[in-house]
Amino acid sequence: MTAKIIDGKAVAAEIRAEITVEVKAIKEKTGKTPGLAVVLVGDDPASKIYVGNKEKQAKEAGFNSYNIILPQEISEAELLEKIDSLNKNPDIHGMIVQLPLPKHIKESAVINAVDPKKDADGFHIENVGKLNTGQDGLVPCTPLGCMILLKKNLGDISGKNALVIGRSNIVGKPMAALLLRESATVTIAHSKTKNLPELCKTADIIIAAIGKPNFVKAEWIKPGAALIDVGINRVDSKLCGDIDFATTSKVAGFITPVPGGVGPMTIACLLGNTLKAFRKSLNI
Ligand SMILES: NC(=O)c1ccc[n+]([C@@H]2O[C@H](COP(=O)([O-])OP(=O)(O)OC[C@H]3O[C@@H](n4cnc5c(N)ncnc54)[C@H](OP(=O)(O)O)[C@@H]3O)[C@@H](O)[C@H]2O)c1
Repeated sequence: MTAKIIDGKAVAAEIRAEITVEVKAIKEKTGKTPGLAVVLVGDDPASKIYVGNKEKQAKEAGFNSYNIILPQEISEAELLEKIDSLNKNPDIHGMIVQLPLPKHIKESAVINAVDPKKDADGFHIENVGKLNTGQDGLVPCTPLGCMILLKKNLGDISGKNALVIGRSNIVGKPMAALLLRESATVTIAHSKTKNLPELCKTADIIIAAIGKPNFVKAEWIKPGAALIDVGINRVDSKLCGDIDFATTSKVAGFITPVPGGVGPMTIACLLGNTLKAFRKSLNI
């Protein structure tokens, strides 16, 4: 079997095109423009590239985009003050604080300082609670992007065995919650899991969010399974995922490439979340 390659880049472009049309229509009707603020602390080169991409795509979709670059040495209190001023700014409808933060700043304090209505990353405890109790809130962008790709390719996933490898707050846990919401039978694996190859063998869907290059092997895969690779790893200056694409793609039914799979969906979903928050602020 040769897997169908899921083209996340193309799906993300479609989503951004739909968002662009909607933003234009709302602008014409109300005179208002959605605003996305991205807060970056320090000057990590990888984060800078990522933040630059977000700004470019936000502008292309017709958003006002605000990049707020703060010095590495900023105190937690000063950062919280900045977030408070963005919370109060009526031109900002979506906001994210780029992670990771410097060690002297408590991540949870910052995440929970963002107004949950503007929490475009969906990391605030209120949005986490909403996701886990089936209420409408803002959902973390990367798992949301994975779910869109899955549903587009598999249709109904209820009753399917889904294995999420990784239990981070930003990918693994919300991914599991989304799969459960779609009535998949969900298993979460992590670094203490003892029988990962066996768990993989029973999975109709595998979502890998580990951060280890080519970790998931072809021998572990159930023929025809759908493989969604969240991992972004650099090996010999080339990007690769957490799933060994070259060999697993011969066994699986569907697979996302790295790059060009989940990655582009994350920014598209960030714009989608900001648009959702914008519409809510206008009661439309
Ligand atoms: N495409 C995108 O837009 C996007 C967005 C976010 C992240 N990513 C990428 O996705 C990957 C994961 O990100 P993250 O933020 O979720 O990482 P993370 O916070 O480091 O979490 C990694 C998870 O993998 C688990 N793990 C580590 N070794 C394992 C093993 N041998 N077997 C099974 N599980 C193992 C860890 O288990 P423990 O909890 O037991 O330590 C942890 O839960 C990274 O490569 C990151 O760059 C991509």
